[in-house]
Amino acid sequence: MMLCPQIVIALILYYSVDWIKADLITIGTVWMFIQYIHLAIQPLIMISEQIRELQRAFGAADRIFEILDTEPEVKDSDDPVTNLEFNDKIEFKNVSFQYEPDKPVLKNLSISIEKGSTVAIVGATGSGKTTIISLLSRFYDPDEGSITIDAIDLKDIKQSSLRSKMSLVLQDIFLFPGNIMDNLRVLRKDISEDKVIEATKKMGIYNYLKGFPKGFDMELSEDGANLSFGERQLLSFSRALTFDPEILVMDEATSSIDPYTEAEIQRSMSKLLKGRTSIIIAHRLSTIEHADKIIVLDHGELIEQGTHHELMKMKNLYANLYWTQTGIE
Ligand SMILES: Nc1ncnc2c1ncn2[C@@H]1O[C@H](COP(=O)(O)OP(=O)(O)O)[C@@H](O)[C@H]1O
Ligand SMILES: [Mg+2]
Repeated sequence: MMLCPQIVIALILYYSVDWIKADLITIGTVWMFIQYIHLAIQPLIMISEQIRELQRAFGAADRIFEILDTEPEVKDSDDPVTNLEFNDKIEFKNVSFQYEPDKPVLKNLSISIEKGSTVAIVGATGSGKTTIISLLSRFYDPDEGSITIDAIDLKDIKQSSLRSKMSLVLQDIFLFPGNIMDNLRVLRKDISEDKVIEATKKMGIYNYLKGFPKGFDMELSEDGANLSFGERQLLSFSRALTFDPEILVMDEATSSIDPYTEAEIQRSMSKLLKGRTSIIIAHRLSTIEHADKIIVLDHGELIEQGTHHELMKMKNLYANLYWTQTGIE
């Protein structure tokens, strides 16, 4: 399109030379012709630019539909349990799992999580802690063994029913452009503002959020880029509590909060965890000392489990980790 007018002008100049010499036309006519060519071509160039935009949009739409059309690997069974009641315990029985062939991530893992208890999972990076959470949330199904809630296999529970019981606070926090209030209730208008505010008060960060410019109406940018990492984590805590879940899962959620804020969160959390079933993964062992049960993993295998005191007495992996971290013997 850009080349067209250049070629046409070249042709006009080429032919007009003889005509001007022969006094058939004047230079003014040639000049006028060139101007008209420009005028005629301009809209065509604009149209071609619009077509380019359109093509890009189609390309993007293709990708969006690709995602929308993706069939989830995990599907609800034909007649799933829709109103799951959780009264007893979650049980992993001989669970084995691998993401890729011949790279087992969890090996014959058996653990139980009683309702109302706080269970901590400890282990080196890559030992399979997050994988346990992914299996419990049924993002994947175990290759062997079973996971049950009150003796009902996860595969027989409707996924939406299962997930409505759980809140996940993860390492990566998902925030979207919008104000803080909508971010906390994830745009669910059926959750009242009062409920959100109550959750932040319980969490002890109400005044802190109020102190932001515009408070709860403060607009967040994509991914919460206008907040510090610690602030984003505080928001994700409050979000989890806004949903008042029966099962609270925290995956290294306190790893980037400064020690002072962490101490404060620790205080409000112990109040919150009371009576709630919670699974906590934390690198800093000081944050999980009071858990009812600590599960120690190594390369996807259960090495030991018990309370902090029991594990310290065993003088095994956990005790070693604790000594390394705290320097207390
Ligand atoms: N989506 C995935 N695809 C393939 N391998 C994965 C995936 N997620 C985790 N892994 C692998 O599984 C192992 C356990 O990971 P993970 O459960 O995230 O460990 P942790 O949370 O204890 O650090 C690691 O070796 C990791 O590389
Ligand atoms: Mg992890």
